[in-house]
Amino acid sequence: MSGRFITFEGIDGAGKSTQIESLVANLRARRLQVEQTREPGGTPVAEKIRALVLHEPMHLETEALLMFAARREHLAARIEPVLTAGGWVVSDRFTDATYAYQVGGRGLDAGKFEALERWVHPNRQPDLTFLFDLEPAIAAARISQSRNAGDRFERERNDFFTRVRAAYLARAQHHPERFLILDATETPEAIRVRIEAAITERFFK
Ligand code: TYD
Repeated sequence: MSGRFITFEGIDGAGKSTQIESLVANLRARRLQVEQTREPGGTPVAEKIRALVLHEPMHLETEALLMFAARREHLAARIEPVLTAGGWVVSDRFTDATYAYQVGGRGLDAGKFEALERWVHPNRQPDLTFLFDLEPAIAAARISQSRNAGDRFERERNDFFTRVRAAYLARAQHHPERFLILDATETPEAIRVRIEAAITERFFK
């Protein structure tokens, strides 16, 4: 069997992390080879790019180029080899995040985004993408309860996240075959059950 590529998306504070842990544990319990990873990041070089892009102020096109540079490395060094070997890759974010944050949130030209997407992965998209949908105000409240000062993105205002959320939903409408939209206000247990059901339905029937 060829590998599967699963991604998790949503605005900051939507609650992806817990669900990623559960899904990875579930897949490993099925004796599958699973790589858990994240973007930007996932390889030593891409993690260095992550440190830069999350913390240094820069032009929005520089930001978009760095996201795709990190992704190019991540695909070559980690994602594609695992998929080729028949393993599963579960990633916290991928290209949908660039569409949502850089195009939707920052206003990057959509044609430039498309050119980069075509350049970096013309023949690869996730097999399934879980989009955690949530009102920005609720997400912001969750973030302020939980942690530190946050990165450049977490410090953005609600209107930024309103645009990011709208762009995610638009992207999901364009790719209904691979997106599953989850109501991130549901309990973690309810969301976990939905994710498992979707995985079983799609890959194990
Ligand atoms: P994430 O790992 O979800 O943050 P954290 O570990 O702090 O929860 O994502 C890092 C940030 O990078 C997040 O705010 C979204 C942003 N991002 C983009 O703006 N564009 C991208 O292409 C990607 C992958 C992430």
